[in-house]
Formats: sequence, C-alpha cells, structure tokens
Amino acid sequence: MKIIFLRLWPEDIRLKVRIFMEFPVGFYMIVLMKILGILFFVCSVMLAVWAFFIEPSLLHVRFYKVSCPSLGGMRLVFASDFHFGRTHSKRAEKIVAEINRQKADVVLLGGDYLKGHKPESFMPVGDIARALGKIRAPGGVFGVLGNHDLFTDKDRLIEAFRREGINLLQNENRFVSVGKRGFYVAGIEDMYTQRPNLKKTLPETEYPVILLSHEPDIYRDVPEKVLLTLSGHMHGGQLRLPFFGALIVPSPMGRKYAQGYFEENGKKMIVSSGLGTSLLPFRLNAVPEIVVVDFE
Ligand SMILES: [Fe+2]
Repeated sequence: MKIIFLRLWPEDIRLKVRIFMEFPVGFYMIVLMKILGILFFVCSVMLAVWAFFIEPSLLHVRFYKVSCPSLGGMRLVFASDFHFGRTHSKRAEKIVAEINRQKADVVLLGGDYLKGHKPESFMPVGDIARALGKIRAPGGVFGVLGNHDLFTDKDRLIEAFRREGINLLQNENRFVSVGKRGFYVAGIEDMYTQRPNLKKTLPETEYPVILLSHEPDIYRDVPEKVLLTLSGHMHGGQLRLPFFGALIVPSPMGRKYAQGYFEENGKKMIVSSGLGTSLLPFRLNAVPEIVVVDFE
C-alpha cells in the first residue's frame, strides 16, 4: 500500500520522501527533540512575559448574586490584597476608579495593603490611605488588616485610614444602613498575625451579618447565622497551571478555598483572587479582580 501511495506522487516529491526515509530513526528523533525544545523555550518566554508584565496589570470585575430579600437591590464591592509598592500610584488610581464605577452602596476591603516586608518596598501608608480614601460609597468603606499589614505600625495605618473615612475593624462590627436596608459588617483580626476572636466580632442580631476575614481559613468556624464571609489572601493561587492548578496556596486547607464562591452547610463565602502580588511578582491564570455582590 505504501508503494502504491508513493507512485501517485510527482517524481521529485517521491525522490525527497525516499531520501528522507533512508535517514536513521535517531536522526529524526534528534530533529524532533530540537523542534520541541525550541517551541518549549518560546512558549516559556511568552508565558513569563505575560505573567510578569501583562496579567498583573489587568483588572477584572467579577459579579456574584447572593439571595437575601431584606438587602434586595443593594450592591457591595469587595477588594482585597492590594500589595501597593512604591511605583503603584497609577495602579491605585485605576483600581479606585474601577471601584467607583460600580456605584456600590458599600465598599469592603480585605487587607494586605502593603507590598513586601520592608518600608522601602511598600507605598507609604499615608499615600495608600489617601488613594483608597477616594473610594465613594454612600453606606461607607470598611476593611480589615491582612498578614502583610503587620510589617508596619498597624495603629498608624488604622489611624491614617480613619482620617480618610475608612474604618478598619479589629474583632469588631458596625451597623450599616443603606436607605431602608440595614446589616452588620463584622471584621475579624488576621488569623496568623493577630488574635482573631469570632465571638467578640459577631453581633447578636436579627439583621444580616457580613463577615470580613483576610484568610478564608476561618470559614469552618463561622456560624450559619452569618450571611456571607468575604476573604482574600490566596491570590487565586497566583500561578495557576493547566492540569496542575494553583501553585501558591498559603493555607492549611490547600487549594480548597483558593478562589470563588463556596456554599457549605447553609454558609456562603466568596474568596477573591485579589489585586496584587506577593512572594513572586507574577500572576498566571489568576487575573487581578474586584468583586461585586448584588443582593436579591
Ligand atoms: Fe495578599
């Protein structure tokens, strides 16, 4: 069959095929390996360029709907893991503009405002506070601290935010009213650098409660009476490879709560992939995002 097939081809092509088939198999294997090697190298460079220069600068808006008739029609924006460095003033403006574009009733912040561990690596706290102080929401702006925020004087940070109208909650809660609707926002201290106390944080109330916790690991201990838990910290894994999943998962729960919407035993949680980077300045398949929650 092979010979008949070859006879149908023009003479010069038949000659080339015959020459090709006379080479030893090892030669073709080497050529194939070289081609695959070049392709792998080119793809790796392209992925590295994407993950370093492009994806971290993107900004997506992810929408969720949560059922709660008493808050029906209310819109909330949640933004987390800013990791503002010295060169991020334009990035901060872009994030704040996108948050304001969503026209939220209330804006909640999930912590990790600072990049790195040293003062020379993060944006000065006053600049961060002034940038985020431009967020506009009729019901107010509330937040918690993240594990990275303890690399500076946390009281100074809390005071800088307070001067800009942002309440950072430390095992405490506030009643928020938006028109005729009302709920409590409760902010718990960071699980690994502070002293979280759920009992102290959650109010005894008939109103809906929205809990802010930098890490999602608190979820297993959250009582059912909490309407919604909002967390960050995981950066969506920051580097997510096809077939392998999230690479950076700073949680004893592993990849379980890396990013997305979770509903277990009547409890709901949204984990945002956040906005910045830590450890490695890369993001791959974990696009920076702000979260919009519409209650219905
Ligand atoms: Fe973070």
